[in-house]
Amino acid sequence: MTEQTGPRSRDTELALEKAYAAKGPEANRELYASWAKTYESGFIVDSGYVYHQEVVKAFCEGFSDSSQPVLDVGCGTGVVGGELAKLGVSVIDGVDISPEMLAEAAAKTCNGRPVYRQLIEADLTGQTELAVGAYAGIVSSGAFTHGIFGPETILKLIRAASPGARFALGINSAHFEEFGFADWLGQHQSDGHISELHFELRPIYGDADEADPNQWSRIAVFSAS
Ligand SMILES: C[S@@+](CC[C@H](N)C(=O)[O-])C[C@H]1O[C@@H](n2cnc3c(N)ncnc32)[C@H](O)[C@@H]1O
Repeated sequence: MTEQTGPRSRDTELALEKAYAAKGPEANRELYASWAKTYESGFIVDSGYVYHQEVVKAFCEGFSDSSQPVLDVGCGTGVVGGELAKLGVSVIDGVDISPEMLAEAAAKTCNGRPVYRQLIEADLTGQTELAVGAYAGIVSSGAFTHGIFGPETILKLIRAASPGARFALGINSAHFEEFGFADWLGQHQSDGHISELHFELRPIYGDADEADPNQWSRIAVFSAS
């Protein structure tokens, strides 16, 4: 793993090392079961995490009807949902493999109302299928990364999207290069499954080191066809 820079605690450095080493659904279930209670108060605060805000900004710039349902993929404790709700998105579902992370998301409120309409426990690398054509928007931060989702998970998301749905998927930049997301998405655009594809380079942390791809995200922004 790349060395982290900046004034982060040793706990945060160790947490990132463990996260990048966890490969596949079982390892991730175990990791996030033990991390759920301190993920926000520890990691998010200490690392200067801004990823959720960057993804929601990229998403909302082109999402016109905030009353339409949006899916937060790998929602964890619900930081993306919290940002969406602050910006007026009113119907938000979350999906995640970890019941402990989902329990934190279930407790999240905005203006006294639960942030999420529905929270779905599912392994998106497995057989689970989401409701077909159900979402006008699909967002994700922190889950298209080492050991979690490769490009093929996007197929499930495209099936869950309604025609014209807007996507903003944050993809760790090192993972983006390693798994060829640009070619994969480009091919799906050529095949007519998606359109209006572009990538936005945004920091994962407020003090992101320019030389470290693990501190940057390519946000894939596109529409379902
Ligand atoms: C780094 S956290 C990101 C959480 C949140 N989106 C954020 O930005 O803070 C990655 C999330 O992906 C979830 N995850 C890992 N593997 C998964 C899988 N196979 N299917 C669904 N969710 C998974 C984890 O439980 C965890 O909540």
